[in-house]
Amino acid sequence: MTSTAAEGPVAQGGEERRIIVMIGAPGAGKGTQAARLAATLGLPHVSTGKLFRDAVHSQQPLGAQVRSYVESGSLVPDDVTVDVVEQRLRQRDARDGAILDGFPRTRAQAVAFDELLAKTGARVAAALYVEVPTEELMARLTGRRICTLDDQHVYHIVARPPKITGRCDLDGARLEQRHDDKPATLQRRLDQQLPPMYDVVDHYADDGPLFSVRGDQPADDVTDELMGALAAVARSDGA
Ligand code: AP5
Repeated sequence: MTSTAAEGPVAQGGEERRIIVMIGAPGAGKGTQAARLAATLGLPHVSTGKLFRDAVHSQQPLGAQVRSYVESGSLVPDDVTVDVVEQRLRQRDARDGAILDGFPRTRAQAVAFDELLAKTGARVAAALYVEVPTEELMARLTGRRICTLDDQHVYHIVARPPKITGRCDLDGARLEQRHDDKPATLQRRLDQQLPPMYDVVDHYADDGPLFSVRGDQPADDVTDELMGALAAVARSDGA
């Protein structure tokens, strides 16, 4: 599943809605893991980064608003980001919940999101923090290649190479390096985005069920740990 908005009426909120947020540095593997969790749990994968990139590529007004931030590796302003997420979660496919990949990314976004969910009686069911040492992040991001047809088809030139060099295994489309993965932008992304991310971790450590998982292990093991954390939440909710 992708973060492409589905057609349909406005989704309803409620206590039973399963909202899961994925926190992690650029390159921590949020997108990789969010796609797996979404497929397993039958929830939409909502990536704010993808929503912004799609808006830029399809030349929507939102794209003009966010382009300079996304391409320079800076955070998009909180009000714009929260509004985009609010609109996306109104889509029918998010009625039962969603896996949020890369949102919230500042304490202000986390607080605004709590307030938004509270209006419908919902809350964040779990915050999953994928931790990866900074030196590993650089190697992951410089080696990442994405499909030009669907940027959630993600490869790595060493850790997860495609079967045919430069071509997506799933649709045969050309692979490319993401604009913000170029070395000039990478360091800025890490410098600007890590401090507010730690604030978000603190927010959920204080106010929500936060689970930290080591992301510097094979992707299947990361998935197993994340699923284990979600099972623990489900057990405690049912208790
Ligand atoms: P976004 O698209 O969210 O980018 P990001 O946070 O920088 O995260 P990435 O997509 O780079 O990494 P990831 O953690 O998903 O890792 P992945 O699974 O691909 O945001 C882009 C931009 O949009 C931001 O810079 C900002 O401008 C804006 N934006 C987005 N959300 C915003 C918000 N809330 N507020 C304000 N602005 C916002 O994996 C990385 C690589 O590692 C891949 O090659 C993968 O194959 C490999 N890999 C994954 N797991 C493993 C593993 N276990 N072992 C080895 N390799 C692995």
